[in-house]
Amino acid sequence: MNITAKTKICMVIGDPIDHSLSPKMHNAGYIALSIESDYIYVACHVKVADIKQFIDGIRAMNIHGVSLTIPHKIAVMPYLDKIDEVAQKIGAVNTIVNENGMLTGYNTDWQGILIPLEKMTDLSGKSVAVLGAGGAARAAVYALSTKKARVSIFNRTIEKAANLANDFGGEAFSLDELERIKQMDIIINTTSVGLKNINESLVPLEYINKHQIVFDAVYGNETQLIHFAKSKSAKTITGLEMLLYQGAEQFSLFTGYSAPVIDMKNALL
Ligand code: ATR
Repeated sequence: MNITAKTKICMVIGDPIDHSLSPKMHNAGYIALSIESDYIYVACHVKVADIKQFIDGIRAMNIHGVSLTIPHKIAVMPYLDKIDEVAQKIGAVNTIVNENGMLTGYNTDWQGILIPLEKMTDLSGKSVAVLGAGGAARAAVYALSTKKARVSIFNRTIEKAANLANDFGGEAFSLDELERIKQMDIIINTTSVGLKNINESLVPLEYINKHQIVFDAVYGNETQLIHFAKSKSAKTITGLEMLLYQGAEQFSLFTGYSAPVIDMKNALL
């Protein structure tokens, strides 16, 4: 380790933060590119009530880059100097870059969804079910709208699904109509079902078939939804891949280098 007074500090903040894998992933990337004396990445537990003081701290300590996770992605927005156009559209910021005291907010979550999907299929014309209508769903529907996919949004609160469809296109449904996903090419779960209880899935086994791609944005071990999908021989994308690709885009924003994705992935596994 060769940390000096010139080493740039990057960090992830959240509440809770103890289980974040981002420090492992980013530091592995710095080592892979031999820039580990130029950058270091740590994690800080910051409560949402303290977000303004944290932003003052970024300026005071000249922290170089920040990744944001729950519950900061919206709360941070009023305190930044500039918000990139896509982050503005999505309505959430998961990345802050400090350039000479100018703090700019970006969103890379949508790339975390788009990149692994595009590695598997051409999205144009594909029917895609997005489950949920929160921040992660907004990033997903925005991503899909850039590729001319046909999007159906299913949410417990139908009004939120309708608002999302109104912003980026697509049709809105309540969960009562979830059976429609049987006919769809791709299923993306962005709800928190499966996060607290890994044995819960909003999608029953019988709605999944082997021709589908099933993406669960919930990260952690194998969720029930991913387990169901594998048992039907469907293709799967886990939340770990979303974490990887949103992190890879952040890595480029922080360092200017393209991310060593394989090394970062190995660090996660
Ligand atoms: P995020 O920003 O991570 O997407 P969020 O904004 O809190 O998180 O959104 C959580 C999503 O999970 C919402 O779509 C929520 O549905 P509502 O809009 O009806 O609240 C959905 N969700 C959470 N718990 C759920 C449950 N038990 N059953 C169905 N949907 C659930």
